[in-house]
Amino acid sequence: MKNYDVLVIGGGPGGYNAAIRAGQLGLKVGCIEGRETLGGTCLNVGCMPSKALLHASEYFEAAVGKEFATLGIEVKPKLNLEQMMKQKTESVDALTKGIEFLFRKNKVDWIKGWGRLAGEGKVDITAADGTNETFSAKDIVIATGSEPTPLPGVPFDGNRILDSTGALSISEVPKRLVVIGAGVIGLELGSVWRRLGSEVTVVEYLDRICPGMDTETAKTFQRSLSKQGIKFKLATKVTEARSDGDSVQLRLEPAAGGEKQTLEADYVLVAIGRRPYTEGLGLETVGLQTDNRGMLSNTKHRSPVDGIWVIGDVTSGPMLAHKAEDEAVACIELIAGKSGEVNYNAIPSVIYTRPEVATVGKTEEQLQSEEREYKVGKFPFSANSRAKINHEGEGFVKVLADARSETILGVHMIGPNVGDMIAEYAVAIEFAATAEDIALTSHPHPTRSEALRQAAMDVDGWAMQA
Ligand code: FAD
Ligand code: NAI
Repeated sequence: MKNYDVLVIGGGPGGYNAAIRAGQLGLKVGCIEGRETLGGTCLNVGCMPSKALLHASEYFEAAVGKEFATLGIEVKPKLNLEQMMKQKTESVDALTKGIEFLFRKNKVDWIKGWGRLAGEGKVDITAADGTNETFSAKDIVIATGSEPTPLPGVPFDGNRILDSTGALSISEVPKRLVVIGAGVIGLELGSVWRRLGSEVTVVEYLDRICPGMDTETAKTFQRSLSKQGIKFKLATKVTEARSDGDSVQLRLEPAAGGEKQTLEADYVLVAIGRRPYTEGLGLETVGLQTDNRGMLSNTKHRSPVDGIWVIGDVTSGPMLAHKAEDEAVACIELIAGKSGEVNYNAIPSVIYTRPEVATVGKTEEQLQSEEREYKVGKFPFSANSRAKINHEGEGFVKVLADARSETILGVHMIGPNVGDMIAEYAVAIEFAATAEDIALTSHPHPTRSEALRQAAMDVDGWAMQA
């Protein structure tokens, strides 16, 4: 039986970063992945293919709509969906191959097959050809990720009723796309297909979009998406969907009960959240249990069983690739006898629509429920010269700071490029910076980042550009 210092189960952002860090620290490490390629959900069917389509569809819409014309660029665009999908697949292939290269570079063994815990310190691996092998390790890291949550009455059929993986590869532009769930996946992929020509209706159970997001930001976001043509049916539940192979009949009713309605779609995307993936993992062989959400618990990445660690989507916290990566590094540092820490309050989150939405730290609602006194600094992109000259003046930056110390507690932005710019405030929160620290830091002109500084100035009422 081959023995390792660390065996990692799952080759997504949690697993591959854990394996690479272990390799860097000189640990003998194997990473077990059941999929044919490395990179997990994120690289294969998540973050990366969705961003490829968001990027391409954004250009398409700019060319078709008034945007290029406003800039004095006259073109007659024609959609080549096959090429759009092909370039997405090629980029994804290059990225997954990149992880293979990093594994070789950092002396990580890629163990191909599905891993199953087989008692203390042991993992059975079943390869694609059905052969079995058992490996042992002092420490085992579970990084098996998550899968789409199904909706009772609306079964995925891989044809017309799709999960996010299906919605990333539709071979035609749906005339009518119904998205169930106004969360991150629904709004990103709904935006892709709307830009390419679909009529998109989003059905959401709650009376708002993006639960958990700062309410003012979510309202502005919904207004913007509505202006772009996405229709919202909030406080509505879908009780049933039936496909005849060409279209889907949906039955809806108000979430609080009431008159039923029907809705017809060519395709349906169900995006009501994801759930931890632990199927066939042999948890019972080591005495591990999941909670009522199917989640594995952890205390500083340690599971309740000695020598077994859990990171990424399979455990608590936001289901984000960079969160999985942060936990991977901290977990391996702890295994190697060093210190490892994740600051969960400084994990940014971005929705890559247009405008983008980016947040880090606490929302106003959270601060209010904690009865914490805070100040608000706000700055609109309509007053930012670079955004204005680019005809991108929609949105704002909102900084929430402690009322007395002015330590930054949360930042919520909607607007151009905010997904890249939020990192500045993640660093600020990590370093316990005050609004004044940002306000007194030089920001290059003319950039959209000046809005970040002006919002910090506004915490003390001295924004100079609005
Ligand atoms: P995963 O990436 O799910 O990887 C787990 C891996 O483990 C999988 O490859 C699986 O095959 C393998 N596995 C499972 N069980 C076994 C087993 N028993 N044996 C061997 N292998 C096993 N996050 C962001 O931060 N930014 C984004 O823009 C973003 N966009 C997304 C878009 C979509 C459409 C989706 C679906 C998700 C998106 N996410 C995004 C979320 C992100 O993909 C996840 O948070 C991230 O992939 C979690 O990493 P992980 O390593 O925990 O799990
Ligand atoms: P989500 O949790 O973001 O949104 C799900 C939405 O569905 C919520 O608004 C919820 O109220 C609603 N909902 C739940 N049950 C419903 C029902 N029965 N009927 C109608 N609506 C219902 O989940 P989503 O969009 O599936 O994404 C899963 C995860 O993937 C997220 O947690 C996110 O972290 C991650 N992700 C991150 C991205 C990013 O960082 N840009 C992009 C895509 C996914």
